[in-house]
Amino acid sequence: MSENSATRITIRRPDDWHLHLRDGDMLRAVLPETSAHFARAIIMPNLVPPVIKTVDAIAYRDRITAAIPTGHDFTPLMTLYLTEGTDPDDVEAGFKAGVITALKLYPAGATTNSASGVRDFDKAMPVLERMAALGIPLCVHGEVTDPEIDIFDREAVFIERILAPLHQRLPELRVIMEHITTEDGIAFVQGSGGNVAASITTHHLIINRNAILVGGIHPHMYCLPVAKREKHRLALRKAATSGDERFFLGTDSAPHTNARKESACGCAGCFTATNTVQLLAHVFEQENALHRLEAFAVLNGPKFYRLPVNEATITLEKRDDAAVFPARIETAEGPVTVFDPGCPVYWHYA
Ligand code: DOR
Ligand code: ZN
Repeated sequence: MSENSATRITIRRPDDWHLHLRDGDMLRAVLPETSAHFARAIIMPNLVPPVIKTVDAIAYRDRITAAIPTGHDFTPLMTLYLTEGTDPDDVEAGFKAGVITALKLYPAGATTNSASGVRDFDKAMPVLERMAALGIPLCVHGEVTDPEIDIFDREAVFIERILAPLHQRLPELRVIMEHITTEDGIAFVQGSGGNVAASITTHHLIINRNAILVGGIHPHMYCLPVAKREKHRLALRKAATSGDERFFLGTDSAPHTNARKESACGCAGCFTATNTVQLLAHVFEQENALHRLEAFAVLNGPKFYRLPVNEATITLEKRDDAAVFPARIETAEGPVTVFDPGCPVYWHYA
């Protein structure tokens, strides 16, 4: 049997290196969808108001922990939302106390709840320098917000205008280019040595921009960064399945109610927590790379974050019958549509 003709694989339990859990009723509804599958997740701080100080992260972490269902083993890894006013001492204290795993950089206005993000990067330099000195990773939403720049070019232009100069100025800073969507993002990571990595979502491995726009507008396929051309999707698949340690899973699973997605101005975000693990097995099988699924979904993330790898394992098996995923999950705020890969998936938990 070749490595890829396996119909059963056992890997360590995965982690999600980019996740939106929200708060309150939505948190309680979506958290079990993640904690059923993942041991840890990097929790995005773009609440309203955002998680800016260590004290906010402690309170949010406690709300998350209180919502973990009995029997689920899950650890939230907290982030702070970087603003021009972030206090380097607070970041250092939070990191040293084990509360903070990383900081998140949203260029102001780039996406959902990013209004308090960074406009003038010079103002963020003191905290970035402290992070570089302490080895605290910076998670980056890599899109410019300049209205002149076409939405499909915003990642490439961000690299050119912001990320490459930042990396030159502070090469010791450990940076994760999150949810990369382009060949340009992949090339930047590959050319930047060991301090720059990237996370890749499940949905960007599955859809290209046609999924959003062909045959009508499909709001549940819309996220930011928006899916790009097919050549970029293929390049993402190649990077994810390459085994290169600098690429790892960050689902960016981002719940919004159907009312907020199916609207004249629909929110960005694909909700993939529910079926991500099985979808990844499907993608890696298609790429003849099942033997690299563990590197992408389990091993590479903690290596970059300098955290231990998970000990528990999961077993997936391919069956003749397609897996049945719920079309939506119910929340007190309204239903949230689960990402539909548009094809049958035959991978199940054993
Ligand atoms: O699609 C997205 N949704 N991209 C982001 O960067 C934010 C996220 C959200 O919070 O909904
Ligand atoms: Zn996100």
